Amino acid sequence: MLTKINLLFIGDIVGEDALPFLKDNLDKIKSKYKSNFIIVNGENIKEGKGITEVEANFLFGLGVNVITTGNHVWDNWKARPLLSRESKVIRPLNYPPNNPGFGYTIVDIEPGVSVAVMQLQGRSLMTPIDCPFRTADHFLKSIREKTQNIVIDFHAETTSEKMSLAWYLDGKVSAIVGTHTHIQTADAQILPNGTAYITDVGMTGPYNSVIGMSKEVSIKRMLLQTPQKFELATGDLRISGVHIEIDNLTHQSMSIQPFIIPEFQKVAFV
Ligand SMILES: [Fe+2]
Ligand SMILES: [Fe+2]
Repeated sequence: MLTKINLLFIGDIVGEDALPFLKDNLDKIKSKYKSNFIIVNGENIKEGKGITEVEANFLFGLGVNVITTGNHVWDNWKARPLLSRESKVIRPLNYPPNNPGFGYTIVDIEPGVSVAVMQLQGRSLMTPIDCPFRTADHFLKSIREKTQNIVIDFHAETTSEKMSLAWYLDGKVSAIVGTHTHIQTADAQILPNGTAYITDVGMTGPYNSVIGMSKEVSIKRMLLQTPQKFELATGDLRISGVHIEIDNLTHQSMSIQPFIIPEFQKVAFV
């Protein structure tokens, strides 16, 4: 039986241009980390908002096992039939009942080895949906009877809410990976009871931008303090992600390693 799960979690894909770029680089990343399970956040693929069947099938064709989404998945009406039909494209679990879609899924890697992926969304500076803490408690009970390899995508705005959930669930899940803010944080760590954690995994998409949006539009928003038409950025594509090793006997994480490919330039251009 598999003793270790080499999990890759790729951060929010912004725009369709990022898909062929991911395709060109994913084999290298997979072989570097010997990955046997891939989760991708796809909430911003289709023109920056949501995901449709076309993009989901593209990602499944690359070997992606589960696609998570987030608040922007609701902006695209075509995402809803996909969420209703495809249990491996999940949306935050703590939206009120009767919204379409699934908030967690359990995927078999091989007979007897499976991984549960759950998505929760924060409430600080976001839509006031159901409590992510109590939602996690409620659903983890029954999930744990099926598998103890559990990964949570926590889609939230504030670092304090993300860190609080991480401490609350340390030892109860294998990993908690933050998404939504599109900037990778420098706090990847294994918490004392074995949960791997990063506040935000970062963005996969155009870095010649403000978190994926046109720089000009974003600056105009800041200067004028009024809504401006959303415009997707182009150029300087990069992939943000983390590699997490999960011990399939203890279901705790052994390591977490963030990456941005290609890496940022950290000295001045000459
Ligand atoms: Fe996002
Ligand atoms: Fe989001």
